[in-house]
Amino acid sequence: MNERIDATAFKRVMRRFPTGVTIVTSLREGSPRGVTVSAFASVSLEPPTVLICINRAARSYLYISASKIFCVNVLAAGQRALAERFAAKLGENQFEGVAYSIDASGAPVLEGCLAHLDCAVSEEHHVGSHSIFIGRVLSGKARAGEPLGYLGGAFYDVAIEVSDKA
Ligand SMILES: Cc1cc2nc3c(=O)[nH]c(=O)nc-3n(C[C@H](O)[C@H](O)[C@H](O)COP(=O)(O)O)c2cc1C
Repeated sequence: MNERIDATAFKRVMRRFPTGVTIVTSLREGSPRGVTVSAFASVSLEPPTVLICINRAARSYLYISASKIFCVNVLAAGQRALAERFAAKLGENQFEGVAYSIDASGAPVLEGCLAHLDCAVSEEHHVGSHSIFIGRVLSGKARAGEPLGYLGGAFYDVAIEVSDKA
């Protein structure tokens, strides 16, 4: 089978698909790490399971792969600076001035996020440049508020409030 799409055309298509924005955190030998991720999806309800896709060239990859834990932090409107921070190739001081707590796995739960899911890796699949991590959900929490979105290569505040009843 011939490949009929190049990387530029592939990205052009994906930029037209609106997503939310998450920061996936992990903890390895007492040291926290996080990465901005839009490739996050629900997989199964019973048992509660999600997936994330992580570039194996990203520093976070080694943390998640070795520790087998990760926390998906769903960003709220107004948190684009945090998204940019965790998409930058920062060295040691990634969490400097970033407030966080800890839930079930030990991975950072970032303050001010709309929701989080704390997970244990149950499977890892290598696919091209990335790995799909399947995560069994250990715990999670959500609050009312507006999410951060990503479309056309840019962040935007979604002006739709998700109520506490949702
Ligand atoms: C909106 C947005 C979404 C992103 N989604 C992903 C993703 O799903 N998976 C991934 O591996 N990288 C994703 N990235 C890229 C990483 O955040 C970026 O490569 C980061 O610098 C990796 O950092 P590290 O090498 O220090 O771990 C995304 C970046 C942005 C801005």
